[in-house]
Amino acid sequence: MIGRLNHIAIAVPDLDAAMAQYRDVLGAAVGAPQDEPDHGVTVVFIELPNTKIELLFPLGDDSPIASFLVKNPAGGIHHMCYEVEDIRAARDRLMASGARVLGSGEPKIGAHGKPVLFLHPKDFNGCLIELEQV
Ligand code: CO
Repeated sequence: MIGRLNHIAIAVPDLDAAMAQYRDVLGAAVGAPQDEPDHGVTVVFIELPNTKIELLFPLGDDSPIASFLVKNPAGGIHHMCYEVEDIRAARDRLMASGARVLGSGEPKIGAHGKPVLFLHPKDFNGCLIELEQV
């Protein structure tokens, strides 16, 4: 059911420093910051030959990334995103197997303008999983 790894998201305590590190030290193609008020994040995409890295920085007062950074002050891997062809079919199959979908269960439009859902990390070995319909 899941397809390609679309991206790995890393929460960072200093967005400018992280962008400079990926650009200047790791030599990657780093995009411009995008504010995503609906998700409480500022996002920077880094294009790699086989996948993307998504840098996440808190935006607004009740950002989910702010609480993550309180627990992980140096930053850390926040989620990984797998591609699916039909996100509602994927959701129905996962829920039928007992996995918990976060929020209302209805897909939201994510940072790439495509429908996304998040799965409960306790059901997936401690990993927060994002599904994106491609
Ligand atoms: Co993501």
